[in-house]
Amino acid sequence: MTPSNPVVSPLRRDALGPLKDREEVARRLLEASARHSFDPDTELDWNAPPEDGKWFWPPELLSLYDTPLWRTMSEEQRIELSRHEAASLASLGIWFELILMQLLVRHIYDKPLTSSHVRYALTEIADECRHSKMFARLIERGGAPAYPVTPLHHNLARILKTVSTTPGSFACTLLGEEILDYMQRLTFPDERVQPLVRGVTRIHVVEEARHVRYAREELRRQMVSCPRWEAGLTRLSCGEAARVFSVAFVNPAVYTNVGLDRREAVAQVRASGHRREVMQTGAKRLTDFLDDIGVMRGAGRRLWRASGLLA
Ligand SMILES: [Fe+2]
Ligand SMILES: [Fe+2]
Repeated sequence: MTPSNPVVSPLRRDALGPLKDREEVARRLLEASARHSFDPDTELDWNAPPEDGKWFWPPELLSLYDTPLWRTMSEEQRIELSRHEAASLASLGIWFELILMQLLVRHIYDKPLTSSHVRYALTEIADECRHSKMFARLIERGGAPAYPVTPLHHNLARILKTVSTTPGSFACTLLGEEILDYMQRLTFPDERVQPLVRGVTRIHVVEEARHVRYAREELRRQMVSCPRWEAGLTRLSCGEAARVFSVAFVNPAVYTNVGLDRREAVAQVRASGHRREVMQTGAKRLTDFLDDIGVMRGAGRRLWRASGLLA
């Protein structure tokens, strides 16, 4: 069930036509959902206390890793940073999922009620409901605060989730899902990491693989069939979303809360070659795909470059 395995082969897709293809993809995804869905409330041990000396996020994936500031921090302070960054990423995850749920509801509002495509979207919304509750519980259990995004980003997303066109919505969905997914794939097998964090990321990786597939297949279809102005708007809104995303990724309040100088920490993260590489590697699968379907052109591409996510 890796995202690189196409659900429907390209040859088959040509023969099917877009609507049949859409139904076929949705049917496969419904089957996958029936086979691999988890109830985090019963699947994970929420009462086990955190283990001493274990990380809440792999150190190499922390924003400050390998910076001059990092080298002055004790092991304890580094682990403390991991606790707060994990809470910040889980908060970001809930924010994304709330946006995504609204986009999905808007997407299916005009679609045939009993189609597999709509049924799968509802299944995905149900997945995201469980995920957001799971992330909230993880934040609470870790003991670090929730880290909402800034009021500006909060309100920019309010506009996006209200007015975004269909391809724009799916492009932004992928942006939110794929980079976090890259980090989570490295987190769940990592034995240095807290068992609860590993359990949460494992569930999320398994269930997100089909979300990525659904959004990719739909975005590919939409970019072929949508009017020119909409494709142009998608390129721009996706580039702008990448720019906002790269800034909002870690809430800078985490640095203050672990006793660091916030401005200095933000400046060092911005200057960090390691961090740039992590973010660009995380975005690579997505940027290659967007390039392939024509989303990375013109002014949109320049915004992607400005975000630092495109090499
Ligand atoms: Fe999710
Ligand atoms: Fe998702």
